[in-house]
Formats: sequence, C-alpha cells, structure tokens
Amino acid sequence: MNHQQHPQRAELCILPGERLSLCRCWLSKTFPLCDGSHKAYREITQDLVGPVVVWGKEEDPFTPPTD
Ligand code: FES
Repeated sequence: MNHQQHPQRAELCILPGERLSLCRCWLSKTFPLCDGSHKAYREITQDLVGPVVVWGKEEDPFTPPTD
C-alpha cells in the first residue's frame, strides 16, 4: 500500500478495554493500523517513529490518564 492508496479519513470506534496501535510511518499494509513495518523503517533511517497507541478506558472516559 502506498500513500495514494491510504484512506483520506478513517473512523474507528474502540470499546472499553480495547487497545489499538495506529500507524504513523505510512508503511503499514493494514493502514491505519500498525503492522510493525515501522521497525524496518527505523533500522534503515534511524528515525524513531512508532505507532500511536489508543485505548478505551473502562472507567470514566472523561478522566485523563495519570501516567
Ligand atoms: S507500521 Fe507504521 S507505525 Fe507501525
């Protein structure tokens, strides 16, 4: 998948307790989800890019994480 094949917009709904890793390197074959392709990219470029990890909190969704 190249940049032209990526969706312009992706909407995902996550459930409480669910965790997703979203690609930020644009190389994932399962974009917008991270498939680990960033590891090879990092080896070549020394760029420390990695996924953004989001999760659905099981408690009050309006309380920001403390860590
Ligand atoms: S594959 Fe792109 S950040 Fe993991």
